[in-house]
Amino acid sequence: MIPSGQIVVLISPQGKRYMHKLTPGGEVHTQEGKLSLDDVAEAGYGGCARTHLGKPYLVLKPTVYDLIKGVKRQTQIMYPKEIGYVLLKLGIGPGSTVIESGTGSAGLTLALAWFVGDTGKVYTYERREDFFKLAMKNLDRVGLLHRVEQVNQDIEQGFKHTGADALFLDVREPWLYLEHIPRAVTPGAMCGFLLPTTNQVSELLRGLDAGPFAEIEVLEILVRRYKPVADRLRPDDRMVAHTGFLIFARYMEKPEPLLLPETDAEAEDPAAGPLMPEPDESEEEPPQLGDEGSCGCEDPAE
Ligand SMILES: C[S@@+](CC[C@H](N)C(=O)[O-])C[C@H]1O[C@@H](n2cnc3c(N)ncnc32)[C@H](O)[C@@H]1O
Repeated sequence: MIPSGQIVVLISPQGKRYMHKLTPGGEVHTQEGKLSLDDVAEAGYGGCARTHLGKPYLVLKPTVYDLIKGVKRQTQIMYPKEIGYVLLKLGIGPGSTVIESGTGSAGLTLALAWFVGDTGKVYTYERREDFFKLAMKNLDRVGLLHRVEQVNQDIEQGFKHTGADALFLDVREPWLYLEHIPRAVTPGAMCGFLLPTTNQVSELLRGLDAGPFAEIEVLEILVRRYKPVADRLRPDDRMVAHTGFLIFARYMEKPEPLLLPETDAEAEDPAAGPLMPEPDESEEEPPQLGDEGSCGCEDPAE
């Protein structure tokens, strides 16, 4: 028996997926007839409930992937393929604190809230009130609102939260807000960005290069699906070719150059020593390839 208030995934006989919150006495009107949510609760996860016309619906427990895909959207949401990588790169786990903007429809916010657990917190900033309210509904629907603090504010004004473990920006012009990052996160914190076009990425790189950021990375993630037919296994005919570029960087409080240029004093003082060790001349010569063959073995044919 599934408790009331839980969200379930219902799969139709044609394989269509729907998500519903269980309410006592509730009903879902499907193309195959009415489905009682009490029957769904009774069927349990992995069970099967029938419409009043006898058509079977599979009942499943949603994963976080299903919850993200089920978000009611009025904005573009981030795809799970990017979200999964972002969570790992930003090091999001139980107890993490993360600042994010813009909230949009809360696709990424939902995933962050799922993974920070009850001991962590997501601080999400959205300038539009309609999206702010939509995100609140989406998070409440899946029972994750208590892990999120929403701020209806343009990040042009900066972030009111400080010392976060990580930060992610999914806004059109993130380079305009880099100056606010040092106050918002701890030194060394991972920062991530999603941008759809290369010219935006270049603009962001110019901002990141100006510091204080290090370990800058740019990448994109492609997923190629296969038709799961054992005897004719081959890729799907179509694939989503481009969603966005991911950019990551670490905020560095005092960026230190890795190799200091040689000073005049060092150049004159032989005791100061070289930056790189000289090759050791006593070292044996590495084995050379000889006439006898690649490993120096006797020719087995002889
Ligand atoms: C593409 S949506 C974000 C989608 C979200 N990551 C998701 O997965 O659902 C971009 C959002 O950023 C918001 N936004 C853009 N610039 C902003 C700013 N300067 N401050 C706050 N929000 C901003 C927009 O209003 C929009 O809702």
